[in-house]
Amino acid sequence: MNQNFVLILVLLIMLSIVNAIPHQLHKRKTKFGSCGLSPVLDVSVSPDPIVANKNATYTISGILKKDITDAYQLFILYFVDGAKRGNKQNFDICTEIKCPVKAGKKFEMKQKSLVPPGLPPNGYSIGVGIINSKSEVIGSACTLE
Ligand SMILES: *[C@@H]1O[C@H](CO)[C@@H](O)[C@H](O)[C@H]1NC(C)=O
Repeated sequence: MNQNFVLILVLLIMLSIVNAIPHQLHKRKTKFGSCGLSPVLDVSVSPDPIVANKNATYTISGILKKDITDAYQLFILYFVDGAKRGNKQNFDICTEIKCPVKAGKKFEMKQKSLVPPGLPPNGYSIGVGIINSKSEVIGSACTLE
C-alpha cells in the first residue's frame, strides 16, 4: 500500500476516535461505589440516567459478611444536593429472592423503584443498602460524582 495513503488512513482513524470522546462524556452514566462502608454492593440502574416520576429498575448484587434474612430490608435513598432530607424507600428482600442467603454467598436481585417526582436531572445522589430494624447496614453502595 502507498505510504501516504496509510498515513492518511491512520490520521482519519485517530480523528474519529478523538471525535467520539466528547460524545461519551455527554452521556451521563450512574456510577455506584463505596459509601465508606464495607462490603460494597454492585448496583446498576435502568434507565440510566434515571427519570423523575418514572420507575427505575435496580440490579443489586454482592457478597455480604452476614446472612440475609427477613430481618433485613433493601432501601433506596434519593438525596437532592442541599436538601434537608431525602426520599427513602424500603423493600422486602425475601419476597424477591430465596432467603436466607448465607454470608459469603453471592446474591442478586432486581428492584423497581419510583424515582421521586421532584428529582432534578443533576445534583442528586442515590444510596442503596441492606438494613435491619436496628439500622445495621450489612451492604451498601452510593453514587459517585
Ligand atoms: C411503577 O411501578 C409500579 C409497580 O409495578 C406501578 O404500579 C406504577 O404504575 C409504575 N409507575 C410508573 C410511573 O410507571
